Amino acid sequence: MKPEVKPQESFPWWKTTTVYHIYPRSFKDSNGDGIGDLRGIVSCLDYIRDLGFQTIWLSPVFASPQVDFGYDVSDYFSVAPEYGNNEDLKLLIEEVHSRDMKILLDLVLNHTSDRHPWFLVSCESRDNPKRDWYVWRDGRKPGGKAPPNNWRNEIGGAGWHYHEKTGQWYWAAFLPCQPDLNYRNPEVRETMIGVVKHWLRFGADGYRLDIIGNIFEDPLFRNNPMCLTFLPGSDKPGMLFRSHVMTKNHPDTISFMKELRKATEEEEPPQRLLVGEVSGETGLIREFCGKEKPDGLHSVFTFKVMDTPFTAKGFRKLIEELETCFPDPFIPAWAFSNHDRTRRISVLGGSIEKAKLNAALLLTARAIPFVYYGEEIGMEQSQIPMKEAKDGLTPYFYRRVPRFLLPILQKISMGAVNRDGCRTPMQWNDESNAGFTSPDAEPWLPVNVNYKSVNVKSQKNDPHSLYNCYRRFLRVRREYTALSRGGLHLLSLPGLSKGVLAFKREITPVVEAGASEKPNRVYVFLNFMKKRTRIPSPEPGLKAVVSTYLDVPKVEGDSFNLRPHEGVVLA
Ligand code: NOJ
Repeated sequence: MKPEVKPQESFPWWKTTTVYHIYPRSFKDSNGDGIGDLRGIVSCLDYIRDLGFQTIWLSPVFASPQVDFGYDVSDYFSVAPEYGNNEDLKLLIEEVHSRDMKILLDLVLNHTSDRHPWFLVSCESRDNPKRDWYVWRDGRKPGGKAPPNNWRNEIGGAGWHYHEKTGQWYWAAFLPCQPDLNYRNPEVRETMIGVVKHWLRFGADGYRLDIIGNIFEDPLFRNNPMCLTFLPGSDKPGMLFRSHVMTKNHPDTISFMKELRKATEEEEPPQRLLVGEVSGETGLIREFCGKEKPDGLHSVFTFKVMDTPFTAKGFRKLIEELETCFPDPFIPAWAFSNHDRTRRISVLGGSIEKAKLNAALLLTARAIPFVYYGEEIGMEQSQIPMKEAKDGLTPYFYRRVPRFLLPILQKISMGAVNRDGCRTPMQWNDESNAGFTSPDAEPWLPVNVNYKSVNVKSQKNDPHSLYNCYRRFLRVRREYTALSRGGLHLLSLPGLSKGVLAFKREITPVVEAGASEKPNRVYVFLNFMKKRTRIPSPEPGLKAVVSTYLDVPKVEGDSFNLRPHEGVVLA
């Protein structure tokens, strides 16, 4: 029988891509002011391409008072001067495309800065034309001095803020300086879709959409009910015994995702990537990508990967859940680190072996993998005192939470109270300022003290390094289409230890146009134990093609050895 040929279009670029996440402020400074910038990023594109990534995502680069470093936008149409200008962004996009790579921008649709001209106008009076662009509400009696209802923001504080001049309250899902836009106003929806289209026409290949689950609130402004959740988790958005059901993941949000998808598909070329930052139960967040068919966002982050215990059992359970909730053609996005959370290697107790195994998992799972700058060299979380923090979130907690509780909160929130520690400058080399900025400049955040030993230059020259492990796995992922396109089937083989996570990635039953000559099936074995173990080979004639160790294990007869924390791909 002639094999069915699946057309190339069923594997758009975004489904098979690998993404390198850049925090622009911290990546590379080209003008010696101690702040990373767009021209700095241009100068490092070859590094990212040679490492093996196909796409970059930039945290926000638009004009902003930078209280929340760009997640508080004051002009959606201009690049922030500290990062360059629109021409520099044009140049960056061209340079990315000339390397056959893609670029995602970060778009904050939910809220603006309180210094955005729209909000300033909105504050002028109750009847100005921009009043209804934000979520304004009368307070409760007597005198309207009590907030309209019991809604709290995403960080557990009051979400309503009283405005003396006009005697009403405005809603902010995040910091008070980030007022929420009112998506029930058609003008707002139209304007923001205009922003989406603007940067696509400018050349962006898509967006990461900031707290996109928060853009609609309950239209009747009903109180959030009590719930059993005290601390929020990636799949439990409530906190302090209060659910967020009236302020998060509202059903109207899901229909707006379709509008966004449609807006991107109306542009040329129509193949772009929209990936949403959402939290909630896995089945629910999948709905952001479409209920019955994929007609919403292309993907969403499944933050549960960050909370999953680093064990074979933990990831087996997670993968089972994701395969149930995100069956092909849906695909989740995975990130173990980002600009809000403790750096991954620090979560893993500083272990390079575990970080390598983590890389092997990330780059072989059926997901769009996102790697945060510096993760590839094992950059560690810096200890920056709360008092000195540059993060706009830290003073918010500092003013409200008893001092002795702050370190505990920082730990249980995985670094979310003071996020400076995961945003320190990229460690390029062992020279002064780690090559991030000129040696005599003062970087906006101190470089991690370990830069002399943990840096790109030294790891490039060391074949055993974490950097070279990432590079090998990225290469194998590109070469073996089964890894980037295939389905995933968990394996339970007789004699396989429970401490080993094993799965098959397979393209069946189709032969794809444009697929490589490599086999349509590969096997992944990840040993989460600190002891070696014998692995039964799932079929005869297999060979290890990559390992987290430099040399690959030899399959002898019908089995092979996996060393402590070793991850391999067999083909
Ligand atoms: C999520 C972003 O990742 C975070 O950095 C930001 O502070 C909040 N959204 C508010 O925009």
